[in-house]
Amino acid sequence: MFKVANQQDLSQRLNKPRSFGLHPDQPKTPKKRPHIIVLGNEKGGSGKSTTAMHVVVSLLRQGKKVAAIDLDSRQRSLTRYLENRREWCERNNIDLPFPKSFVAERSDLNNVQEAQAQERETFEAILDTVSSFDFIVIDSPGSDTYLSRVGHSVADTLITPLNDSFVDFDLLAEIDPDSFEVKAPSLYSELVWESRKNRAMNERASIDWIVMRNRISSLDAKNKRRLGEVLSALAPRIGFRIAPGFGERVIFRELFPSGKTLMDLAEGNPGFRMSMSHVAARQEVRDLMTTLKLPGFGEQEEQQEMEA
Ligand SMILES: Nc1ncnc2c1ncn2[C@@H]1O[C@H](COP(=O)(O)OP(=O)(O)OP(=O)(O)O)[C@@H](O)[C@H]1O
Ligand SMILES: [Mg+2]
Repeated sequence: MFKVANQQDLSQRLNKPRSFGLHPDQPKTPKKRPHIIVLGNEKGGSGKSTTAMHVVVSLLRQGKKVAAIDLDSRQRSLTRYLENRREWCERNNIDLPFPKSFVAERSDLNNVQEAQAQERETFEAILDTVSSFDFIVIDSPGSDTYLSRVGHSVADTLITPLNDSFVDFDLLAEIDPDSFEVKAPSLYSELVWESRKNRAMNERASIDWIVMRNRISSLDAKNKRRLGEVLSALAPRIGFRIAPGFGERVIFRELFPSGKTLMDLAEGNPGFRMSMSHVAARQEVRDLMTTLKLPGFGEQEEQQEMEA
């Protein structure tokens, strides 16, 4: 069962009015806590880091102050994505928006408890550093690690990208192969359930869990429909919302080396014309962002619409 040691301690610390670095006599200005978005799925290669990067840049482009935390210190995909972006900007002398980014390193201590305590401390220290930010986007590894569990325990919004195949659906639940009935929730669903329970008990807060299909093929319409039906049946039983996902598109793979996202395609590229496929892909990212219903996101557009 999922349990983070000192979960309450960590949650309380996050919810306290921020006074870090202030002298005790100094008036404390209560600041709101950043909204924490976690990308989680214990299956490798489902699109967590790619989605994390697109969420980060979408938020930055709305003028939000964003921190990015990479919990996958082995692969560091999100970190490498950002490094590629930095190098591309320097090479082309172009300014693109950046989050404040961190890697939460895994401990190399041999004693499990000591290692976990050290990892938790590292994570808390990062959170303290960015306590005045609007959003924290956390990318977790494609496996069950202690840091990943700690990350899940502080999520306000959890996004789970899922490869568009029944092979990947067992991340959510054990499904009867003939009837497609749910036989049992998966370990990962139980982990999310436990995190939710802890958040509700300790903070009266909830985790908004969003499952998005990724790499949706435009070819196999029947399979696509069937997967959609099973996901809709699972949503109320396991307690997640469904976001319109991303199609299988080469552009997602092509963007990584330059560190760009679909939100910055035209930057440094005068005369660049978006193809229909690029426009459709960017719209998929926008649709995801709308579905997330993040606090304060989309306010600019709403304001402009009201004024028009
Ligand atoms: N919609 C998509 N269409 C095409 N390729 C995609 C799509 N989404 C992700 N990819 C590609 O799939 C690969 C895996 O994506 P990504 O690294 O984001 O997954 P991940 O869940 O973070 O993996 P891991 O669990 O190993 O951290 C990358 O090469 C990425 O470019
Ligand atoms: Mg990754």
